[in-house]
Amino acid sequence: MEKLARKQVQQLTPYLSARRIGGCGDVWLNANESPFNNEYKTDFARLNRYSECQPKELIQAYASYAGVKPEQTLTSRGADEGIELLIRAFCEPNEDAILFCPPTYGMYGISAETMGVTRKVVPLTAEWQLDLATIEQNLDNVKLVFVCSPNNPTGNLVKREDIISLLEMTKERAIVVMDEAYIDFCPEASTVDLLEQYPNLAILRTLSKAFALAGLRCGFTLASEEIINVLLKVIAPYPVPVPVADIAIQALSEAGLARAKYQMLDLNANRAYLQVGLSMIAGVEVFEGWGNYLLVKFSDGDALFKGAWDTGIILRNSPIENCVRISVGNRDECEKTVGFIRNFYA
Ligand SMILES: Cc1ncc(COP(=O)(O)O)c(C=O)c1O
Repeated sequence: MEKLARKQVQQLTPYLSARRIGGCGDVWLNANESPFNNEYKTDFARLNRYSECQPKELIQAYASYAGVKPEQTLTSRGADEGIELLIRAFCEPNEDAILFCPPTYGMYGISAETMGVTRKVVPLTAEWQLDLATIEQNLDNVKLVFVCSPNNPTGNLVKREDIISLLEMTKERAIVVMDEAYIDFCPEASTVDLLEQYPNLAILRTLSKAFALAGLRCGFTLASEEIINVLLKVIAPYPVPVPVADIAIQALSEAGLARAKYQMLDLNANRAYLQVGLSMIAGVEVFEGWGNYLLVKFSDGDALFKGAWDTGIILRNSPIENCVRISVGNRDECEKTVGFIRNFYA
């Protein structure tokens, strides 16, 4: 049966998500999830009916949170579906390309590969910033340029002036997709204000991180009405389950937003605790991070990762040599992690 699959799919290595990798333990800091488990009311009264394709109340709530018009807002099954919809709607298989800049989030490449769309790779510079000159030389046939900021896994922000240069460079040629999955932890770095000026900008957002709803699978694409209308042509007829919309609306209510804000401040404080605690250990280098995770360099990253794994502290290894990505958990999880690493090197 496998031979019946498309050739590209036969050759595909699927994304190794934290869940697929597994692990066994009681400190889970490998998927950039929130440690908060908030309660919601669920209403099972309307499940005999299909949901709205784009539930109005949800769209209005997120548009208002993000400071855009409802017509500029699309909701989907996580930001991951936003990535897929953009590629499916804008890239001709075996003809067009996407461009992305590793080390970065793996799903841009995998989604493109699944759909037979060429992947152009222009690595970030040594400072993990955009290599604009090389990007410019590689724009032929590129329809989408993915930029992640805060970048996963490095944690740094991409310079705003470089994003503007990229938007200018790609004007009327390609869409710049800003992946802002972690932007709620540093909202001042958002590019949402640039939507007005750049119709070739699309922004990906999610409730999986700062809103502590990774299991809900709810994300958003913010863009010009024109781009949103193209995406609406290819989205499934009922992409948002009724309970998902109900819970997401509660998360985006006034009380939900206040709670999320409080939890983000708490996590940012824990990130500072991790940053300082780990920096004090000899031979450990912590990179400045703006999301709910930190990239940390060890003398032997694989040994540290495995040692933590064996004691039930599940971290994420990274493609960057000797670097491990550590999600910011609750204070107890952060203390256990710092304690383990301190002992590991003692
Ligand atoms: C940079 C980045 N973009 C997108 C996603 C996917 O988010 P979602 O859970 O909304 O599909 C992730 C998930 O880890 C991510 O790290």
